[in-house]
Amino acid sequence: MKSASRRPIGVFDSGIGGLTVLRALARRLPHEDLIYFGDTAHVPYGAKSPEAVTRYSLAVARFLEKEGVKALVVACNTASALALPTLKKKLKIPVLGVIGPGARAAAGATRGGRVGIIGTEATVASGAYVEALRRVLPKARTASTACPLFVPLVEEGWWSRGVTEDVAREYLGPIKKAKVDTLILGCTHYPLLKPIIGRVVGSKIRLIDSAEETAKETEARLDKEGLLRRSGKGRRLFYASDAPKRFLRVARRLGVNVKSVKLHPFDI
Ligand code: DGL
Repeated sequence: MKSASRRPIGVFDSGIGGLTVLRALARRLPHEDLIYFGDTAHVPYGAKSPEAVTRYSLAVARFLEKEGVKALVVACNTASALALPTLKKKLKIPVLGVIGPGARAAAGATRGGRVGIIGTEATVASGAYVEALRRVLPKARTASTACPLFVPLVEEGWWSRGVTEDVAREYLGPIKKAKVDTLILGCTHYPLLKPIIGRVVGSKIRLIDSAEETAKETEARLDKEGLLRRSGKGRRLFYASDAPKRFLRVARRLGVNVKSVKLHPFDI
């Protein structure tokens, strides 16, 4: 058995978008081995019930625990919003989500306490970002909108197309009207649309990328638990529960260098 700090970190997402979090982790923690699991058999989580998302998340988490990970980063905003309490209760390793780090970063960035939140339908309906934000900034005023079409547009690689900007204008109208000064990009895919979102909402609104914040908090937590790895090559291993070839194709389109993907199907 490897010493605890030499074990890998598990990174879990509903599919491919969580590679934005993997990339942020790899940049901040270059010596850590990372095992990424994309639950491509059940994506999108954003349109599923809390019960289904919790069931899928737990199955993936148990698999990663068996693979010997020392900590689990739930890169998926929807899974973080709906399944984090269950995962924390059931697993014996540190479990980190993206909602808390994103909310804390927004609380630190906002000047007037008016914060916008965009995410999947399930994330927005859960109210998890609003709750996390109010914990650190009780007087925060929030405006939330689901932007479901952003996910397929990003996976198609249409990050800077006119059609994507039109969709962004439709979705972000209410956010602009609410006069927020900070906007949480509460979905794995949205950081890739930062230029378009920034153009649509205007340069005065600060955009919060949960991926960067999560990487920072993961480093702090591992350090606190004595689990931080300070040397090593930083190996990457990728699993998908379905269609690994598509995973590879889209990952490359997102600019992540994935060499191979192992298929690990689930029967749940
Ligand atoms: N990974 C999801 C999230 O961050 C987006 C894709 C999905 O709906 O599963 O919420």
